[in-house]
Amino acid sequence: MTEIRNVGEKIKGDLMSERPYVIDEMISAKAIAARVEELCKNIQSEFVGTDKLIVVGLLRGSFVFIADLVRELDLPVEVDFLEASSYGDGMESSREVRILKDLRGAIEGRDVLVVEDIVDTGYTLSHVISLLKSRGPARLMSIALLDKPSRREVEVKADWTGFEIPDEFVVGYGIDYAQRNRNLDHIGKVRFTG
Ligand code: IMP
Ligand code: MG
Repeated sequence: MTEIRNVGEKIKGDLMSERPYVIDEMISAKAIAARVEELCKNIQSEFVGTDKLIVVGLLRGSFVFIADLVRELDLPVEVDFLEASSYGDGMESSREVRILKDLRGAIEGRDVLVVEDIVDTGYTLSHVISLLKSRGPARLMSIALLDKPSRREVEVKADWTGFEIPDEFVVGYGIDYAQRNRNLDHIGKVRFTG
């Protein structure tokens, strides 16, 4: 794993994705679907009676997860997106979070659910949460499909987590490696073969 990170840091862009790798299944599409159902029950009981829940997806990794979540939620929802960047195309967090695309709508006084693909070092989620909190939402909750607690550098935890996973670089179900593999229906881990 250490070796892989060094490669990710030193080699940027397309070169990196030319290193041969295979993807080993870690979480099946079926297991994800079952977990999404459970999570939505919890979200629904938290936000029962809301006049409107603004579901904020963090681009681009959460696009599949958010699509499944909102279709499972029996609540009045609106969908908005925010793009924050901390990884570039590499495997190592830059630890510096930039907002590349802000929300279209205001969230003041609204119920908001932030949807993240993975919480890794924690920089992205903690930055986004404090940014959105500063806009005065009525309620702000967060959900992450995956969490790698052993990688945490900033103390932050999503209110709901789909799966805790070990320190592996994963792809699929919206999550990429150098922009590839987002269209896998399951979560797999990247294993370099050369
Ligand atoms: P953090 O700021 O370090 O918590 O990083 C969070 C972001 O890094 C996630 O939203 C992902 O976009 C990306 N990321 C973290 N781990 C992985 C991984 O294993 N595969 C692909 N992207 C990842
Ligand atoms: Mg992300």
